[in-house]
Amino acid sequence: MCGIVAYKGPKLNAGKVVFDGLKLLEYRGYDSSGIAIHNNGNVEVFKKKGKVKNSEKLFKNSKISSNIAIGHTRWATHGEPSDVNSHPIVSYNKKYTIVHNGIIENYKELKSLLEDEGYKFQTDTDTEVLVNFIESCTSKSEDFAKGFSYALSKVTGAFGIVLMVNNNPDILYAARKGSPLAIGQFNGNFILASDASPIIKYTNKIIYLENDTFLKISGNSFKIFDFKLKSKNKNFIEVDLELQKVELGKYDSYMLKEIMEQPNSLTQTMLGRVKDNDITLGGITDENGNNLIEAKRIIIVGCGTSWHAALTAEYFLEKYLKIPVEVEYASEFRYREPIIYKDDVVFVISQSGETADTLEATKIAKKKGAVVLGIVNAVGSSIARETDEGCYLHAGPEIGVASTKAFTSQLLVLFMIGIKAGYLKRHISESKYYKMINQLKEIPSKVDEIIRESSLIEKVAKKIYKKDHCLFMSRGNNFPVALEGALKLKEISYIHAEGYPAAELKHGPIALIDKNMPVVVICTKSDEYEKILSNVMEIKARKAIVIGVLDPKNFHMKKHFDHYIEVPDTSKDFSPIINQIPLQLIAYYCAIYRGCDVDMPRNLAKSVTVE
Ligand code: G6P
Repeated sequence: MCGIVAYKGPKLNAGKVVFDGLKLLEYRGYDSSGIAIHNNGNVEVFKKKGKVKNSEKLFKNSKISSNIAIGHTRWATHGEPSDVNSHPIVSYNKKYTIVHNGIIENYKELKSLLEDEGYKFQTDTDTEVLVNFIESCTSKSEDFAKGFSYALSKVTGAFGIVLMVNNNPDILYAARKGSPLAIGQFNGNFILASDASPIIKYTNKIIYLENDTFLKISGNSFKIFDFKLKSKNKNFIEVDLELQKVELGKYDSYMLKEIMEQPNSLTQTMLGRVKDNDITLGGITDENGNNLIEAKRIIIVGCGTSWHAALTAEYFLEKYLKIPVEVEYASEFRYREPIIYKDDVVFVISQSGETADTLEATKIAKKKGAVVLGIVNAVGSSIARETDEGCYLHAGPEIGVASTKAFTSQLLVLFMIGIKAGYLKRHISESKYYKMINQLKEIPSKVDEIIRESSLIEKVAKKIYKKDHCLFMSRGNNFPVALEGALKLKEISYIHAEGYPAAELKHGPIALIDKNMPVVVICTKSDEYEKILSNVMEIKARKAIVIGVLDPKNFHMKKHFDHYIEVPDTSKDFSPIINQIPLQLIAYYCAIYRGCDVDMPRNLAKSVTVE
C-alpha cells in the first residue's frame, strides 16, 4: 500500500533520492505518486495519477535541486485515484506539507471540527484532514511539539507520516501509529521510508519507529518522543538486506524472478535448521517448544496466501501432532471475540509482517495469554517484533505483489515445526523422522526440475489464457493448493478463478462447467486419487477442458486429461510445495499472454497496512 520516502541532508540530491526510493516501493501497490521539495524558501509539489515516472517527469522539468524532500506512492482509500487526491498534501494555511500511509478513522468528526473553524478542503482524502488538524492544533499550542503530539493522540486509525515545515527547510517530522516507518542516518543525512529497501543503498543501520512515537530531525541530529513528549531511545538494528536481492537482475519481472529462485529460497529456509538427521529451530526456545508439545490446540491466523499456507498446515499438524488445529482469517478472528486459552499456541503467518489485521490478531492472542509464534519473512517487521518468538522464512525479499516464494517457504517452516513437534510427541517414529528430513532436503531439487521444464507449463497456459473463468480442484492437503492456484490466477491475470475440494464440485460449481471452462486438477500421489479420477470423469462428461497436475505414480491417468503437467514424485505430505510451482507458472504465463503487469496487478497491494 502507500509508500513513503523522505530525505534531508547536506550530501545528496533530495529529488533523486526520493524518486529512486519510490521506485523501490512500487511493489507495494499504488495508483498515483508525488513529491514535495523545498526550493529557495518555498515548498513545491509535483504529483500525478499513475506511475511514478509521471510525477518524476513533472519534477524533472522543474530542474529543482534541493536537500530536503518528501515523496509518496498512494493506494487510494478516501477519494478516487487522481492528481488532486495524490500526496503530498499541503495544509489549508500552507504551513505544512504531509505524506501519509494509513487510514484516519475519525476523519469525518475531525473534518467537521475543522470546517467549524473555517477550514476548506480541496481533496477527498482523510490525509488532508490530518494535516489540517495538525495545523489547527499546533497553531493553538504554545509550542509545536505539544500541539503536534496532541493532534496525533486524538487521531484514531493508522498512520505513518512525514511532515515538512514549509517555512523551515532545516526541520522534518515523522510519526507512526500502525503503519511502518524506517529511518536511516549517515553523516548527518536522513532517509525515511515505509520499508528498508530505499535506505539500504546508503546504510544498513535502521530504526523502525515504534507505534505512538514521533521523530524530529533538526539540523544534523534527531530525537524520538512518545505522544506524551517523553524522550525515547534510538534502537538501531542492522538490516541484512542486500540491494541486489531487491533488484531484478536478468528477469523481466519480480514475480518470475521469485518463482525461479525457489530452489534457493527453500534451501535458505532450511539452512542451519535441517542438519544431518535433526531439525533445529533456533527461533523457538525450549520453553515454547514445550508449550507447543503440550498445547491442547493450535490456532493459525493469516490473510491471503498466508491463510492458504495455514490451511495446508492444518492437515499436516493435525495428522502428526494429534491435536485440533483451527485456521482463521485474521480479519475475522480479531472481531469475533475468539475463545483463546492460555494453553493454546497461536501461529501468525505473514510474509510482510505488516498486515494490519494479522498484527491486530497477534496482539489479541497475546493479550489473552496464548503463546504466539510468528512465521514471518520480513526481518524486523511489526509482527516479528510483536511476537516474542517464531521462525523467519529467510526466503529473501519478496517484491512481486502475488506471493510465490514466501508461500512455499511458509509451508516448509510449518512442516519443519510439525515434524519436530510430532517427533518429540512420539507420533512420528525415529525412522520416519529421519525419512521425512531426507524428503525435505530433496524438495529444492524437485522444484528445480519443474522450473527447468517451465516451457511445457507455458504451453498449457497458452491453451487457457483467453478464457474468462477457470476452476482448480483437488482433495486433502492439496485442496488449499487449489485455492492458492486460483488466487494466483485471478490476482495477476484477472481471469475469474475459484478453488474447490473435488467432491464439492457436485454441490454447485459443476453448473458452471461447459466446453469453455478449464479445470485444473491437482492429482498427485494421494489415497484419494481414485476418487479424484471419478470427479475428473464427471467434469469431462460435461466437456470441461481438463488439465492435470500429475506425478509419476499417476501418469497412467494421462489419457483422461486434455493437457497435463508432470511433477516429480514426492511424499504426499510435502506435495503441496511441489504442486504449487506449476500453478504459479500457469498464472504467470496467462498474465503475460494477456498483457498484464504481473508485479503490479490492478487494485492490489503487497503490504496491506490498513484493515
Ligand atoms: C496482500 C498480498 C498477498 C498476501 C496478503 C497477506 O493481499 O497481495 O500476496 O498474501 O496480503 O500478506 P502477508 O504479508 O501478511 O503475508
